[in-house]
Amino acid sequence: MSTVAIFVLLAVTSCVSHAHYTKFPEGFIFGVATAAHQIEGAWNVSGKSENVWDHLTHTKPWMVADGTNGDIACDSYNRYMEDVEELTNLGVDFYRFSFSWARLLPTGRIDQINPEGVQYYHNLLDALAEKNIEPFVTLFHWDLPQSLQDLGGFANPIMVDYFRDYADFCFREYGDKIKSWITFNEPYEICEDAYGDIKKAPALNSHGVGNYLCSHNLLKAHAEAYHLYNETYRPKQNGRIMISINSIWYEPADPNDSELVALAEVANQFKFGWFAHPIFTEEGGYPAVMVENVAQNSRSEGLTKPRLEQFDDYWIERIKGTSDFLGINHYTTHLVTGPGLDPNAKSPSWWNDIGAITSLEVGEPTASTWFRVVPTGFANLLRWCKSSYNNPPIYITENGYSDRGTLEDYDRIKYFNDHLSAILHVINDDGVRVLGYTAWTLMDNFEWRAGFSERFGFYHVDITDPARPRTAKLSADYYKQLTANRELPQDERFKKPSERRY
Ligand code: NOJ
Repeated sequence: MSTVAIFVLLAVTSCVSHAHYTKFPEGFIFGVATAAHQIEGAWNVSGKSENVWDHLTHTKPWMVADGTNGDIACDSYNRYMEDVEELTNLGVDFYRFSFSWARLLPTGRIDQINPEGVQYYHNLLDALAEKNIEPFVTLFHWDLPQSLQDLGGFANPIMVDYFRDYADFCFREYGDKIKSWITFNEPYEICEDAYGDIKKAPALNSHGVGNYLCSHNLLKAHAEAYHLYNETYRPKQNGRIMISINSIWYEPADPNDSELVALAEVANQFKFGWFAHPIFTEEGGYPAVMVENVAQNSRSEGLTKPRLEQFDDYWIERIKGTSDFLGINHYTTHLVTGPGLDPNAKSPSWWNDIGAITSLEVGEPTASTWFRVVPTGFANLLRWCKSSYNNPPIYITENGYSDRGTLEDYDRIKYFNDHLSAILHVINDDGVRVLGYTAWTLMDNFEWRAGFSERFGFYHVDITDPARPRTAKLSADYYKQLTANRELPQDERFKKPSERRY
């Protein structure tokens, strides 16, 4: 580990109290998450149409590390009762999963409803209800119907109407069975990775342009779905609705360097604030630093208009406050090491608009190149959310660890334990209002462009076997003990043999 990284680790560790909290507060809830395209399979049967991931993986199979795709995935479309059995074994309070838009509405619009798709989710919801597992349903977890992508997807303002119509259909059809809705999963990944880059489908690579068009329409679509639920459905269905925002948290490489501290704040505003600021602050709209940086860069590029359009007063008001909770997905922390343009960044781009160089040189590596283990960064992110957004009620809607699929997954257990411990610290020492935790993920599944080469599950899935057998890893036992006792498991068998005390 570099000296800079050691310095940062010491600095961030020193912010954490040494009290040893193990017990979760009354009412704290535990769940696990999955997403439709990552587990369901059945990509072209029972009336489902093609989505952007089907399209990408079929037309450019080399874009997935191990050449796999979501055609069958974990076969949850046929094996959802096995999913429910595993959830029951884990003892979770809730299951976060997503609806496949292309399975419900094959054209993407409400002119065609697919009865078999509709029935599939009713069956799953009924099976969950039997086991007293509450559904948390994500409306959009990255699998846009390809027919809507052909119109430009989220770069096209028509998506505001199409998303509202889709949400309307879901609230009407399922709202009696679902009390917790998530509109969008990780808008940053949707807009930056998929429109501004080639990391996710549809891989448009419209850097510095498509990403900002996407955020504008996505935030409006989110707000419209929220208002629709709030005004039309909430009075009879009595549920809640939120958005899940992902954070790679940025720490200054040297916490005593005020320029780096300021730059890390800029990076966090560009990453988390891009979607959180319009919804969770009093003033609304995009973060000021984002508006300024993009406007300045756009001018120097000779453009007549900033690449990031600002919301007018109507939309600022319409978007503000449209989430009952702050949903946070968190995996890792990166360091900000200096000002300047990242040598790998394209121009124009979101990266160049930040104007900071970053590094991953902190924490232990995982199976994913973007991801190292820094639980202290998680605690700092949560404290920052408290102070930046007026102490909102928070659900951790994803947190998890990648390896290559071992059954004795001690490193995953340690990751969960350290991150859960960070949550207990910020609840008890800082008054951060974290109300629930969602582990990613129930079982190894199609990890997007990494295919099945990076595995995050409590259950191992053998994808070479048509029966897709699932085998519990040691971490499944750990989580089961956690949900049963509502406290961090102390059992020595969850530690690596070399680290056990007896
Ligand atoms: C966040 C995404 O929501 C999920 O789909 C993905 O598998 C995990 N991160 C791990 O990369």
